[in-house]
Amino acid sequence: MRVYKTADYAAMSRQAANIITSLVVLKPACVLGLATGSTPVGTYEQLIAWNQEGYLSFSQVTTVNLDEYLGLPGTHDQSYRYFMDHNLFDHVDIDKARTNVPNGMAGDVAQECRRYDKLVESLGGADLQLLGMGHDGHIAFNEPCDHFPVGTHLVELDPMTIQANARFFDNDPAKVPTKALTMGIGTILSAKRLLMVVSGGDKAEILARALLGPVTPAVPASALQLHRDVTVVADEAALGVYLQQGGQVC
Ligand code: F6R
Repeated sequence: MRVYKTADYAAMSRQAANIITSLVVLKPACVLGLATGSTPVGTYEQLIAWNQEGYLSFSQVTTVNLDEYLGLPGTHDQSYRYFMDHNLFDHVDIDKARTNVPNGMAGDVAQECRRYDKLVESLGGADLQLLGMGHDGHIAFNEPCDHFPVGTHLVELDPMTIQANARFFDNDPAKVPTKALTMGIGTILSAKRLLMVVSGGDKAEILARALLGPVTPAVPASALQLHRDVTVVADEAALGVYLQQGGQVC
């Protein structure tokens, strides 16, 4: 595992965008696993800028997103499809037909989960999966629990996650969907490379537990320790506890 320390959020975003760009330049027809949430927004902004300046092209890239709220159509401004369109896809030269997000409106949820797993498998898995991490250590919507879910599945969102995401729903937790479709930890670990971005002192404690603590489904991000090619790009604030506990950075 490589852990890069950056001065702040802007530098974290630029570093993550550099890593993604290097992959897209070397393998233009790559499969990128993408995430939503606040943390990758700066990374997407940097990728948009470089795309518009002509440094990289997404014209042959295929994407697979981690998760989607159940019951929100792609036109809803808080759906993850809408987030991806507005924060990345609409601003770069990507073929939208090659962008994939689980269908939160699927009538048969179990079938949609199977379809999504087969899709990821048929693409040969992601060449690189971008991840953020929640305050409880969740990755995608894999909340702390007693096992590591393998494939795409339906989850009940943790109250802490609902509270954290209420900021996108008029600060009203009652408006946050209570269920979501998410890739499992097994699907995430099937990516060839993992890139996790983390920012802010409020995640310092959980980041240290994820990177240095025991591998446990109680801290879903600790599963990253099992993968052979993981890069974490985090700002100084997020790495505070990790560094205090003797964690190494590049
Ligand atoms: C969303 C996702 C989530 C977020 C996590 C952190 O696709 O995968 O696991 O990465 O909730 O969200 P932020 O970045 O908003 O703190």
